[in-house]
Amino acid sequence: MARTSFLQASVLLSSFLSFTHAQSATPTQLGWSTTLNGTPTSFRSVFTIPASADAGADVLPNIQDPQAVNAQDVCPGYKASQLRETDAGLSAVLTLAGKPCNVYGTDVETLTLKVEFQSKDRLAVNIRPAQLDASNSSHWVIPESLIPRPRAEGSHADLDLEFDWSNEPSFWFSVTRKSSGDIIFTTKGSHLVYENQFVEFVNSLPEDYNLYGLGERIHGLKLNNNFTATIYAADVGDPIDRNLYGSHPFYLETRYFDASNKTKKPLKQSDLHQRSFGYEPNASKSPYTSASHGVYYRNLHGMDVVLSPSNMTWRTLGGEIDLFFFDGPTQPAVTNQYQTSAIGLPAMQSYWTFGYHQCRWGYRNWTETRSIVETMRAFNIPMETIWLDIDYMDQYRDFTLDPVTFPPSGVADFFDWLHSNNQHFVPIVDAAIYIPNPTNASDAYDTYTRGNESGVFLTNPDGSQYIGAVWPGYTVFPDWMSSNGVAWWVKEMVEWYKEVPFSGFWVDMTEVSSFCVGSCGTGNVTLNPVHPPFSLPGEVGNVVFDYPEGFNITNATEAASASAGASSDLAVHAVSPNATHANGMEEYDVHNVWGHQIINATYQGLLSVFPGKRPFIIGRSTFAGSGKWAGHWGGDNASKWAYMFFSIPQALSFSLFGIPMFGVDTCGFNGNTDAELCSRWMQLSAFFPFYRNHNVLSAISQEPYQWESVASASRSAMHIRYSLLPYMYTLFHQAHTTGSTVMRALAWEFPNEPQLAGVDTQFLLGPSILVTPVLEPQVDTVKGVFPGLIDGESWYDWYTGERVKAEAGVNTTISAPLGHIPVYVRGGSVLPTQEPGYTTTDSRKNPWGLIVALSADGEASGSLYVDDGESLEPSATLDISFAAVSGQLKVDVRGEFKDNNTLGNVTVLGLTGGCGPVKLNGQPVDTAKVNCNQDTSVLKLSGLNDLTNGGAWQGNWTLSWT
Ligand SMILES: *[C@@H]1O[C@H](CO)[C@@H](O)[C@H](O)[C@H]1NC(C)=O
Ligand SMILES: *[C@@H]1O[C@H](CO)[C@@H](O)[C@H](O)[C@H]1NC(C)=O
Ligand SMILES: *[C@@H]1O[C@H](CO)[C@@H](O)[C@H](O)[C@H]1NC(C)=O
Ligand SMILES: *[C@@H]1O[C@H](CO)[C@@H](O)[C@H](O)[C@H]1NC(C)=O
Repeated sequence: MARTSFLQASVLLSSFLSFTHAQSATPTQLGWSTTLNGTPTSFRSVFTIPASADAGADVLPNIQDPQAVNAQDVCPGYKASQLRETDAGLSAVLTLAGKPCNVYGTDVETLTLKVEFQSKDRLAVNIRPAQLDASNSSHWVIPESLIPRPRAEGSHADLDLEFDWSNEPSFWFSVTRKSSGDIIFTTKGSHLVYENQFVEFVNSLPEDYNLYGLGERIHGLKLNNNFTATIYAADVGDPIDRNLYGSHPFYLETRYFDASNKTKKPLKQSDLHQRSFGYEPNASKSPYTSASHGVYYRNLHGMDVVLSPSNMTWRTLGGEIDLFFFDGPTQPAVTNQYQTSAIGLPAMQSYWTFGYHQCRWGYRNWTETRSIVETMRAFNIPMETIWLDIDYMDQYRDFTLDPVTFPPSGVADFFDWLHSNNQHFVPIVDAAIYIPNPTNASDAYDTYTRGNESGVFLTNPDGSQYIGAVWPGYTVFPDWMSSNGVAWWVKEMVEWYKEVPFSGFWVDMTEVSSFCVGSCGTGNVTLNPVHPPFSLPGEVGNVVFDYPEGFNITNATEAASASAGASSDLAVHAVSPNATHANGMEEYDVHNVWGHQIINATYQGLLSVFPGKRPFIIGRSTFAGSGKWAGHWGGDNASKWAYMFFSIPQALSFSLFGIPMFGVDTCGFNGNTDAELCSRWMQLSAFFPFYRNHNVLSAISQEPYQWESVASASRSAMHIRYSLLPYMYTLFHQAHTTGSTVMRALAWEFPNEPQLAGVDTQFLLGPSILVTPVLEPQVDTVKGVFPGLIDGESWYDWYTGERVKAEAGVNTTISAPLGHIPVYVRGGSVLPTQEPGYTTTDSRKNPWGLIVALSADGEASGSLYVDDGESLEPSATLDISFAAVSGQLKVDVRGEFKDNNTLGNVTVLGLTGGCGPVKLNGQPVDTAKVNCNQDTSVLKLSGLNDLTNGGAWQGNWTLSWT
């Protein structure tokens, strides 16, 4: 296949380094003996791949090239004809409207347009070449089996979107919200450009738009209107504003309107700021309303989305234009529509995965690993799962154990002990597979041999094996499109489980990463094992003493424990676009889904290892829909305050992408952390679904017990987290069954407040918990807004139960000394809790509790979902609903799951008019169990266990307090 045109095309993507034809590295024997501090047995005196092997062609992205021709200026666009309209949509033929411009490729003469009213909330627009030519990237159609295309379903009678088009001056189309006349997407005033390896269209946006998504990236939640969102899976250590590991060509846009007239133009944020959002002193209702919609561009190719003040330009390197519009009109409705009907609902997670996870690169042997787990317990810091990075592997080869430091002989002892404490183990597993040195029989590697015999690895265009380089040396890469690829991977997992009883998989380097450009190992495999073309953190020659950020303002004795640290600034590196799949597909066309596919294969593997149980996977590279199999962590962040902040918008973006199981390397990965940062961060991450502390090799240790202040801050936040596990689990079940989100932006729950549109320093866990963390050093207060007050919402302090006194729309200063994270409960909610145990297994044996936070009119509701915590299809479940009104809480229990835990306590917040006699099912509750505080308006009932012998959820019950 011809692949030269895109190089001449001065391609747009800002972060491609490996985007070039295969070129083999010229080996130079450096004779450099390396000793790795952490893993003495792992590297011997070996050949080091020259750094130049990782340097790609220097391609200046179109958007950064002042000389680049603007396709909009020179291309003719298309004219539509042969229109056919049906009840379910329309189709037409698009013909080039003038002389081909051939600006970055060859113009496609004839296209087809197909518009479908797909359902009650979804409209689809598809534009593709009329005659598909398989050798042309812009003719590339995504196989259904790879990324399913949302199909027309049900009636579209209620669809609030309409499609319009015109040929003046060339073909354009728009999508309008029928009920308000608001044009949510229009290409009017631009030309459609459709060339081989270059597809461009432009849609207009209102001024000051509120747009979210288009990931993965490290960025504030709301995308700026002068910003290029590049989407191309890259192995890079969390650079700000650039493309990262995952590809999510989806956005949510919210428009605010005057509540009194939705047919007016959307309101501009700048105008609203000028009049302080227009809240009158005694207003009892927000004067604003909003409407949200979503857009999914089902395209796997590298793309740039150029966000300008009044429009966005979409440029891709190929594939169809396959757009899906979701009508909302609320944010939760958009997310629900996107997940339910387009990409799939997020996986339900096992209960244990919500416990605390401890990891680092640099746990050196079974003994040390065990001592980490023991020390966590000695400090009484809950700990569910211990993780190992690549240290455990034999020379960094998948499905092995280092014979010296993690010998198989140590496995039984370690795991019998770990599992007897109801604790778990999750290993890292890398994407690349070591290719053994054929001249050295002792270098044999069975995983490779079996895969090679089954033909499961990527090839070069000439059919030879594609050989890149990753941690173990020269490597090959599984081809998930080969007929045996998934089966081979599943079998490797099943066999390895017999040796190492893991509980889940952490799949890394899945972009798919390679440390050199092209098939650099071709002809060089006899040098294996080789060393990567850069030194590793802590390696001889790369020891940098790295003071913690803000060192001069922290306790100097702390830094004395800092031994060494270094940040690895790795360039983007990946398997090259001409690597070829078994079915002839080139990596060029499917690069962005390699990580999605290994997640799928690993899901199959875990199902084989644990039949009927929910697989637990944390993956690095994700695509739209990966959430139905896996969670994600934020990648290689740094131990800096800024990265702690960025964890919030990153998590909220992954809520939009349908991957709620998200968390970041708490206390920071690269570089040295310090007590203050780690304390704040351990408390913040306690409210993220995936809660893990992880650290780079050779940075100072950062387990929460390393500092007494961090230990105590962690214990206090974990006490809240573990109390709320039933709530978290219920939220996940709702996400899994309805497409709702778990971590939520304030704007999504409070759609009538335009000033919340960009808030990403606070967040909600589900609808009912508001978290306002400290995100900067050396302060003991934090500013935060209490959303919804304008519409009569109330909030209660988690710690005191007192109702918050704050003004609507005003940033309030909140006391937050080190060790305290401000957390609030939303009035109108009933939260199920359970007394925390050391592990989630222990917690699940403890008495239940309820927090009933009354709204201003004395009402509250909530729900609880219970099952065995691990089955894919539980044979019995419990669905419990809570409703409080007029001083009475009604509990309605449905389902067959047996749970015998009693009800321990009930706390009612926001009592109006004090408390009368407390009765359970009409029977008075002993006053010794009742504590009514008139000053704080909090009623606490405790020691209720004997009243619910046999279990809190044995049947319906009623509690009254008036
Ligand atoms: C999009 O916005 C940019 C920047 O404001 C402007 O230069 C360009 O003409 C606009 N393009 C179209 C097609 O409207
Ligand atoms: C847009 O961003 C670029 C790059 O950061 C900057 O140089 C330029 O001044 C910005 N333009 C506007 C109008 O803010
Ligand atoms: C709403 O605004 C539109 C556009 O400004 C105007 O034409 C219409 O009369 C308004 N309707 C009401 C009820 O105020
Ligand atoms: C494990 O590693 C630690 C830290 O390097 C070391 O002190 C200890 O001797 C090792 N233990 C074994 C059994 O190898």
